[in-house]
Amino acid sequence: MIRIFENSDLATRNSFKVHQQAAKIIEFETNDDLVEIFAQIAENKWMVMGGANNILFTKDVDFPIIVPKNEQIEIISEDQESVHIRVGAGLEWDDLVAWSVERGLWGLENLSLIPGKVGAAPVQNIGAYGAEAKDTIESVEMFFPEQSAFVTLAAEHCGFGYRESVFKHTLKGRVIITAVQFRLSKVGTPRLGYGDVEREVESRGGATLRNIREAICAIRRAKLPDTAVTGNAGSFFKNPIVDISVAQSMLESYPQMPHYPTADNTKVKLAAGWLIDQCGLKGYCEGNVGVHSRQALVLINTTGEATGSEVIAFAGKVSQCVAQKFGITIEPEVNIL
Ligand code: EPU
Repeated sequence: MIRIFENSDLATRNSFKVHQQAAKIIEFETNDDLVEIFAQIAENKWMVMGGANNILFTKDVDFPIIVPKNEQIEIISEDQESVHIRVGAGLEWDDLVAWSVERGLWGLENLSLIPGKVGAAPVQNIGAYGAEAKDTIESVEMFFPEQSAFVTLAAEHCGFGYRESVFKHTLKGRVIITAVQFRLSKVGTPRLGYGDVEREVESRGGATLRNIREAICAIRRAKLPDTAVTGNAGSFFKNPIVDISVAQSMLESYPQMPHYPTADNTKVKLAAGWLIDQCGLKGYCEGNVGVHSRQALVLINTTGEATGSEVIAFAGKVSQCVAQKFGITIEPEVNIL
């Protein structure tokens, strides 16, 4: 079914809760709906919006916003070790994680409680607590309006990296993700190596799927703001990746500095939240925007009245402080529109 909303406020549809107007929002469920929608769209500019948990609107949107609403989970095949599923792009990500944990399927549990829709997961290759969406994604199904064609792209062609994929680059603005296929494992391989995860899991009685999900949910609830109450977009910045020599010289001054290996052994990933925290900015507010008091990587709409431009200006000041103190550039993770 297609549903169209004209001249509506985006505040209830974006996690930062900023007020901007959308000329036209078009919700769709099926592939046929998409073909029908694009047969009628005169503009060649449009955008896709899931839960808008990673979008900061800085202006009104005068082109169509396409919103997937297909929420089906379908089992494609199953063997002794794994289950291959197809999931509609419009399903809430955490509903998929809950579904998998209830069925004893491994792979998504560390990604519990990440806000957003399934269709957004491959775009920025969502990740947390030592797991990334790419670890379980088999392929991504999409529609190319230019050719009015549906294509399934295997994971190895999706260009996945740390918060990276082809959907942020060559395919940006050209495709609508309609479904994502995952392979989940029947065989347990707990990943407890990140931060407090192991301790939280042990305190719940050991590494069962349910305990891991509960532990991750508890850790996230303790550190991250509740979007239902406070506007935010999760991590506002990406963790910077620097040359190993840069990290080594910083470690001489800050031996406690968190740092993580990357696939490229000449590079190290630093924690942007730690860098911001070291600048004394945790909990700092200006106007309607602030740095979250429990996780400095998250910027919040403190009053509910922040505008996108105000958030950008504030973020600019935060990154300037980090650049001045450490000589490191931190870049937004959030898509700015
Ligand atoms: N840290 C501080 N002060 C802070 C925040 C962090 O000192 O205010 C330190 C922590 O103590 C820790 C290190 O920095 O030693 C890393 O912090 P944390 O484990 O909280 O993770 P992160 O690097 O800040 C990333 C993801 C999060 C994800 C967590 C857990 C990015 C941009 N963010 O944050 O993802 O939940 O790891 O895996 O990679 C998101 O993308 O929206 C998001 C929340």
